[in-house]
Amino acid sequence: MATIFSGIQPSGVVTLGNYLGAMKQFVELQEENDCFFCIVDQHAITVPQDRLELRKNIRTLAALYLAVGIDPEKVTLFIQSEVPAHAQAGWMMQCVSSIGELERMTQYKDKSQKHESIPAGLLTYPPLMAADILLYGTEVVPVGDDQKQHIELTRDLAERFNKRYNDIFTVPDIFIPKFGARVMSLTDPTKKMSKSDPNPKSMINLLDDPKQIEKKIKSAVTDSDGIVKFDKENKAGISNLLTIYASFSGKSIEELEAMYEGKGYGEFKSDVAQTVVEGLRPIQERFQELINSEELDIILDKGAEKANRQAMKMLRKMENAMGLGRKRR
Ligand code: TYM
Repeated sequence: MATIFSGIQPSGVVTLGNYLGAMKQFVELQEENDCFFCIVDQHAITVPQDRLELRKNIRTLAALYLAVGIDPEKVTLFIQSEVPAHAQAGWMMQCVSSIGELERMTQYKDKSQKHESIPAGLLTYPPLMAADILLYGTEVVPVGDDQKQHIELTRDLAERFNKRYNDIFTVPDIFIPKFGARVMSLTDPTKKMSKSDPNPKSMINLLDDPKQIEKKIKSAVTDSDGIVKFDKENKAGISNLLTIYASFSGKSIEELEAMYEGKGYGEFKSDVAQTVVEGLRPIQERFQELINSEELDIILDKGAEKANRQAMKMLRKMENAMGLGRKRR
């Protein structure tokens, strides 16, 4: 039994990458572990958001967490901004970070290029993420491949804090899935599938209807070999579709390669699309039941209450370690 924490940003749609790289693992991990899953809305505002859109995306993401199979009886599901300790601890972790190490984050380098005037939150985003994780005594953080560097920084910051102040933080391990750790864009399979991609054809939204899914997968960029074979270097598009197919069907890559030996991409793509449609159908049905339900609010209220209780304990330890405020009895 381990303590587990992970978060997803409610910025834009929830993609197949988020599902295969993160959420699918959460569902498996909840059985044996003490899990905290978060809707990290404070991370989302590191770039400008429309307030109504953001509110809608927060609720959609919460409903999707449950729709994919997160069980609120087993897991603490909550919204980051409803647990103020995150922002408070985030500030303290910023004070333990150096500008140099934050500037070295590849996601910062990529994202900051898109802004003429770079929002400071983009730079200080990883210490907030470290706070999210460290507040719960987290031992394992399940994430996709793109978050690796942020988790490594979290480990460094935890060790630095422990050494400089008091040994209060558990140094967390990263957990990256064997399959789906890096789902690629359908229009450019050398790039990861990303909700911030301006081209909607590059990604599958978990709430896309069957026609949209079919269209996007059928028009996914591949190659002209006509051979269904896993080869990331030379056949990125087909390898990506094979990964998606394997994740949804439970079949191995080798099995799938054998199934499509001598067959063209048309049949292969059509079967990938069908498998994704069938895999997402129950998720979408459950989502429709939840999205406007009171049940969803009750779950989030309970989650915030539990997370607040837990996070406050570590926040007090952090304040004591750093000498903030007055000594409490
Ligand atoms: P975010 O919101 O970008 O993504 C949420 C999760 O989905 C994974 N992911 C992918 N996995 C495979 N293929 C893809 N194409 C793909 N795209 C996204 C991400 O790796 C992630 O696991 N900084 C985080 C949110 C965060 C967090 C945390 C995560 C805030 N605090 C604490 C873990 C622990 C982020 O922006 O993820």
